[in-house]
Amino acid sequence: MARLRVVVTAGPTREYLDPIRYVTNRSTGVMGYTAATVAQRRGHQVTLISGPTTLTAPRGVRVVRVVTAREMRRATLQALAQADALVMTAAVADYRPVVTRRGKLKRAGRTLTVRLVENPDILAEAGQRFGDGKLLVGFALESRRLLPAARDKFARKRLDLIVGNSVRRGVTFGRQPLTDVVLLTRRGVIARRARAPKSWVASQIVTFLERCSRCCIL
Ligand code: CTP
Repeated sequence: MARLRVVVTAGPTREYLDPIRYVTNRSTGVMGYTAATVAQRRGHQVTLISGPTTLTAPRGVRVVRVVTAREMRRATLQALAQADALVMTAAVADYRPVVTRRGKLKRAGRTLTVRLVENPDILAEAGQRFGDGKLLVGFALESRRLLPAARDKFARKRLDLIVGNSVRRGVTFGRQPLTDVVLLTRRGVIARRARAPKSWVASQIVTFLERCSRCCIL
């Protein structure tokens, strides 16, 4: 078995309004840290690009810590240039404040409107730049029409594998299993599971990368 060089992203990003406040989401990073651990235990060389989390770095994994989506973009594309595969589990904030104030934002006694601008789509850019030569795995967390939405992201971002999962039966975070998991490749749906432990999802992904790097027909 060839030793793969795998980049895994994990956790949320934070987008600062001022030195104290930020826009973020509820991602804990467990999915990415689990994927990094599984890949490392199977003998692969892993770089983990991590947004802010409370998790301990897995042993034997190179960890690059980032905060914002733009920092994650830079670190991920740089690491991917030297790697074979990207597993993009991070919950990248899709928007950031137009302005990050230098000083603390003061209460002004009236409604505050915050303008947000789109962040770069890291996975789509990885697809454009590296889609031909490297293996790309993405996630799609959807509240409705899971399979069509996952198919759309799979094609649009030029992926090799997408893991669709649902928020329909409540939002699952941290150590809870993912719900309504569907793994989709060029061949169509290759696995489904109603409640999937993150360790199961991680090993499905690593097995896919190993098979794909061996025969390149998946
Ligand atoms: N992703 C990314 N950069 C972003 C947003 C998402 O790389 N700015 C990646 C995620 O890590 C995930 C995949 O793209 O692997 C799909 O993320 P998701 O949030 O489901 O999709 P979006 O493209 O942001 O679309 P939408 O939020 O409209 O569903």
